[in-house]
Amino acid sequence: MKADIDLLREEFFKTYGDRAADPVFFYSPGRVNLIGEHTDYNGGYVFPCALDFGTVMALRRTGGTKIRLNSLNFPGEVEVPLSPVYAPIPGSWTNYPVGVINEFALEGISAPGLELLFYGDIPNGAGLSSSASIEMVTAVALNEITGAGLEMMKLVKMSQRAENIFAGMNCGIMDQFAVGFGKRDHAISLDCDTLEYRYAPLILGDRRLIITNTNKRRGLTDSKYNERRSECERAVELISLHHPVRNLSQLTVSDLWMTERYIDDTVVRKRARHVITENGRTLEAITALEKNDIETFGRLMNESHDSLCTDYEVTGIELDTLVYEGRKLPGVIGTRMTGAGFGGCTVSIVENRHTDEFAAKLGEIYTAKTGLKADFYMPGVGDGARRI
Ligand code: GLA
Repeated sequence: MKADIDLLREEFFKTYGDRAADPVFFYSPGRVNLIGEHTDYNGGYVFPCALDFGTVMALRRTGGTKIRLNSLNFPGEVEVPLSPVYAPIPGSWTNYPVGVINEFALEGISAPGLELLFYGDIPNGAGLSSSASIEMVTAVALNEITGAGLEMMKLVKMSQRAENIFAGMNCGIMDQFAVGFGKRDHAISLDCDTLEYRYAPLILGDRRLIITNTNKRRGLTDSKYNERRSECERAVELISLHHPVRNLSQLTVSDLWMTERYIDDTVVRKRARHVITENGRTLEAITALEKNDIETFGRLMNESHDSLCTDYEVTGIELDTLVYEGRKLPGVIGTRMTGAGFGGCTVSIVENRHTDEFAAKLGEIYTAKTGLKADFYMPGVGDGARRI
């Protein structure tokens, strides 16, 4: 964990005073998805892992009647009076924690008066789940200090709902799940229909994960995301007129003919094709990783990106430049966009001896083509949300 607890304690005292009463600390990671993109809200498979950077939260009970929220990442304090139900504040980062506090309130678990200070080292808006990380750190903390004793799965679902309702982002369950259930040096294979999961050791030998941030400003991501969701729902509606399906992940590649025959809208048909093929690729990739066949895993990552580019249309010049130029460089086993898309990050598996060259050359090409500067991270795979 890179976030510095001593620094946060010091900042906590500067913000709230009273050095006699120490705050308690909680931590929650960010996540990267290795494969299985835009499958979670279609009841499919995902394969994410938690990162070794994230959000730290310092918390102190006050005995008062309000919750004070501060973050070292965002300016200004927000004060929220204790209430049986809370409302979002348009555009405020505090919607993530307050959305979770609201979920607890809806469960009949009232938050006490609190002073909270957050600090995160996940780049915001980069698609590495900084928001899910804030939600889950709040959920784990409230669960502990109220003695609610809720299970991690429940906290994950409450955080997902907080994001849906308070941030207006109709996300699936992957991010909050990965952040909650992360395990050091493991990826998580999750069936988003049944919520059954298992851990797969992420042993890359002489290769490593590199995350590259496009640094493209997050624009219409949330509205485009919600639009993709509706297109998938439309695909299910059209297919169900002929063949009973609850979600697109109930279909396999051998059912693709149904998308051709039953979906007359070409855009909706492409969206369905991505989801169905991506689900198949994800299962194949998980098996490949379990057999330590990293080459096959890398090939499937590449195919995943191609499908997200042509069928799902959630990439764009920035992600495509990183991926298609990156693939030409030596030692690149696989590379693809990760997360919602439209910007954000790529994830690549690169041979150790070529990582410096990858960052240097790709950085240069990217700037030449887009005028933006990419950032390169070499994260470790860490544990999930917890008290520290
Ligand atoms: C975002 C959402 C997730 C998931 C991905 C795409 O990260 O929050 O639920 O849908 O996009 O795979």
